[in-house]
Amino acid sequence: MRVIITKDYDEMSKVAANIIAAQMILKPNSVLGLATGSSPIGTYKELIKKNEAGDIDFSDITTVNLDEYKDLPITHDQSYYYFMNDYLFNHVNINKERTNLPNGNAEDIDAECARYEALIKELGGIDLQLLGLGHNGHVGFNEPSDCFAKSTYCVTLTERTIDANKRFFESADAVPRQAITMGSGSIMSAKKILLVVSGADKADALKKSLTGPITPNVPGSILQLHPDVTVVCDEAAYSKIAV
Ligand code: GLP
Repeated sequence: MRVIITKDYDEMSKVAANIIAAQMILKPNSVLGLATGSSPIGTYKELIKKNEAGDIDFSDITTVNLDEYKDLPITHDQSYYYFMNDYLFNHVNINKERTNLPNGNAEDIDAECARYEALIKELGGIDLQLLGLGHNGHVGFNEPSDCFAKSTYCVTLTERTIDANKRFFESADAVPRQAITMGSGSIMSAKKILLVVSGADKADALKKSLTGPITPNVPGSILQLHPDVTVVCDEAAYSKIAV
């Protein structure tokens, strides 16, 4: 595991974007696993700048996103479909037919989870998976639990996650209670992983994920077992490991 410590969120975003850009240059038809949340927004802004400057090309890139809320219309501005278009896809030369997210509005959710997992395999797996980290150590929407999920599944969100995400909705009641997420197994199958973490409020979760016991109670801790993880975090997020 490589850990790159940056001054702040902006520097973290630049470093993360450089790593993704290097992947895209080395393999122009890469399958990129993408994430939502506030952590990767700066990274996406930097990627847009690089694409505008002609330094990176999305035309042969395929994307698969980690997760999506269940039963939230894709037109809702908090759906991850909307987020990805708004923060990245609408601003780069990507073929939108090659952008993939779980369908949280599917009638048969189990079939949708199976379809999504099969899609990742059909694509030949994920070359580089970008991840953020939740305050309780969740990755994607893999919440603390008694076991690691092998593949894409429907998860019930914890109160802590609902509370953390309510800032984006009218109220906590408006936050969906369930989501479809790649399982820890799907994430661990990615060839490379890039974790971006910023802010003192993530310091505990980062410390537990990188240095604590490997346990499904801290889903991010499974990353310790992956052979090619790069963590890009700012000093504030790293502060509890440093002392
Ligand atoms: C959300 C997402 C995760 C994200 C996490 C942290 O629940 N499902 O993919 O990593 O929360 O979000 P943020 O980056 O806004 O702190």
